Amino acid sequence: MKYTTQQQRTLFDLSKTLLAAANATKKDLAKIQIESLHKVIVYHEWRYYILNDAVLADFEYDSLYKKLEALEAVFPTLRTADSPTQRVSSDLTEDSPRVEHLTPMLSLGNSYNAEDLNDFDAQIRKLAMIEEGVEIEYVVEPKFDGGSLALVYENDLLTRAATRGDGQKGEEMTPNARSMKSVPLRANFSQFGIQKVELRGEAVIRRDRFDKINEEREAAGLNLFANPRNTAAGGLRTKDANETGKRHIEAFVYQLGYTINEAGENVLNKFSTHFESIEALGNLGFKIPQKETKLCKNIQEVIDWTLGWEAKREGYAYEIDGMVIKVNSLAIQERCGYTSHHPRWAIAFKFKAKQATTKLLNVEYQIGKIGSLTPVAKVEPVELAGVTIGSISLHNADFISDKDLRLGDTVLIERAGDVIPYISKSLPELRDGSEQVIQFPTNCPSCATTLERAEGEAAWRCPNHICEAQVLQRMIFHVSKPAMNVDGMGKSIVEKFHEMGWLKTLPDIYRLNYEEIATMEGFGKKSATNLKKSIDKAKQNPIKRLLHSLTIHHLGKKVSQLLAAEVEHVLDLAHWTEEKFIDIKDVGPKVAANVIEYFAQAANIEMLKELESLGVNLKQTEADRPKIIDKNAPLVGKTILFTGSLQTMSRKQAQAMAETAGAKNISAVSSNLNILVAGEKAGSKLKKATALGTVQILTEEDFLIIIK
Ligand code: IVH
Repeated sequence: MKYTTQQQRTLFDLSKTLLAAANATKKDLAKIQIESLHKVIVYHEWRYYILNDAVLADFEYDSLYKKLEALEAVFPTLRTADSPTQRVSSDLTEDSPRVEHLTPMLSLGNSYNAEDLNDFDAQIRKLAMIEEGVEIEYVVEPKFDGGSLALVYENDLLTRAATRGDGQKGEEMTPNARSMKSVPLRANFSQFGIQKVELRGEAVIRRDRFDKINEEREAAGLNLFANPRNTAAGGLRTKDANETGKRHIEAFVYQLGYTINEAGENVLNKFSTHFESIEALGNLGFKIPQKETKLCKNIQEVIDWTLGWEAKREGYAYEIDGMVIKVNSLAIQERCGYTSHHPRWAIAFKFKAKQATTKLLNVEYQIGKIGSLTPVAKVEPVELAGVTIGSISLHNADFISDKDLRLGDTVLIERAGDVIPYISKSLPELRDGSEQVIQFPTNCPSCATTLERAEGEAAWRCPNHICEAQVLQRMIFHVSKPAMNVDGMGKSIVEKFHEMGWLKTLPDIYRLNYEEIATMEGFGKKSATNLKKSIDKAKQNPIKRLLHSLTIHHLGKKVSQLLAAEVEHVLDLAHWTEEKFIDIKDVGPKVAANVIEYFAQAANIEMLKELESLGVNLKQTEADRPKIIDKNAPLVGKTILFTGSLQTMSRKQAQAMAETAGAKNISAVSSNLNILVAGEKAGSKLKKATALGTVQILTEEDFLIIIK
């Protein structure tokens, strides 16, 4: 029975009155209070750690917890092993003893595509002697990529936890498991007549949690963890159970193993299907992947669900390396049996690898818009997570020397999430002596000027501002979205026109011959007219875009905007002193020096004048002037956050409106938040803000009324 806090308080008050009337001792009273706190805390831990749906604010939880701790300190004999306060142990575990699993933790067979899954279905049919036409039910669940663990409960209490080890014996890590809030210390197995049970599960860390841990480690100057899997698996085995707790490792359970009753008989037959057994574990308070698991009527549904997950795995909160397909009926499972290595009634579907090895064939050098040289590895084409990779950035010269990469090396390439693939290391043990050290060039491959490296910077740069390769990159950037935003003119068109000899300098962009373009292959009259329209439109851009498009080192979007707000005409900047620049908040000496240097060069001034004569706007526009916020605007000085889906506007529009009304948009619910606008299907943020009690909660309609 789960109680809400309120019900629990009422119950407690009632029992207090009754006991007082019956002349109860202080200890009797404490016992009731401890038991009731115990239940409430376990309930809220379940909501928070298992359901991800907390109803209690952190400080409320903390105060309940502290109260329980205080009572237990006064009456230590009332402190039970399954008390929520008994999760964290300050003892370091000795060298962990190895313990034998109650039943071996087997592995799984693998499958890689729909055909393999159809073969698996056919195999099950044969083993269990199921006729053609009779469909077999399967359960498909995520194959979590973490550290596997086995949890033993005896008489409803967690008595042992161990890692998988070699499958027969694992390392005992009970204190660590006790520190994980998603592992119940007590679970009511006795209602099923189960006296002793071993559960199988996987310890994992949410990706966002992992990123946060690494951010904190970076700030503290500690080494970063490589990935969520190692952090979770390592956390299970650390010598300090508090560390396991701190990493916010969660345990999903996915399998009921050894299960016996008082008489020592197997009682797995309490359930007739795997799905039921997992549901029961969920009801007992364990974390199960409920939404991610599907009970499939036949193998085709299995294939659809599995491939669907492969496509969306990167958006999932946890790392998974595949799906596991299990025959649902326990009777059919039994008919299929086991090999020494894996159950015949289950199979893993492995997602396409995110790691591969290949050969480093060559290194080419790309010159960026400010002249930085980026080495790019050409590798033997290899497939990685469904994409064929032929070239990979090597970032800079230090990257090559730090990793000691050599031409001819076998290299390990990886891809995490949406991240661009990268070379994580070379495998020197596979060298045969023919590999060659990579000679980073000393001169620009385009114009042969000697390369320079500024102090503190990683990149070698070509200092020749009119280096052809650089000019081309600058033109590509000039027309790009964040800069002049010339619709329909991308990298390949600029490259093509450059090749044709039409684009040698920036101003050439504004004197293209559209009649000639119309006759080009792949163009035509219509696209030439559209291109002209886009370029004419770009000529009218506010000068903040033009400034950004000039590719002055460190002059990004933000500083361009700050400068545009301060000048009538772009060329005014040519007369600015360093003080004038750094008087502007957020403009530093580095960017000031670069802008001064740019405007000190006669060639640049000429080029800007040329642009102006071609019709490009160089004068401050309305959009360049800072928005003046009315001191009487309705939301001046307030912080605001939008959550849920809005019906009459996009989130971006809403944020801009809030800003105009004087508010500051922030991204998290905290005591700093003043207003939360809750759209449809608002979730945890709304709950958290409500629990804080200090946040004004508005509907979309309320918000619109206030700002109007
Ligand atoms: S079932 C007898 N289900 O994958 C049952 N395993 O090679 C055998 N794993 O290291 C395992 N998610 O830790 C099963 N939903 C899941 C799983 C899962 C991850 C891991 C397991 C083991 C490996 C199996």
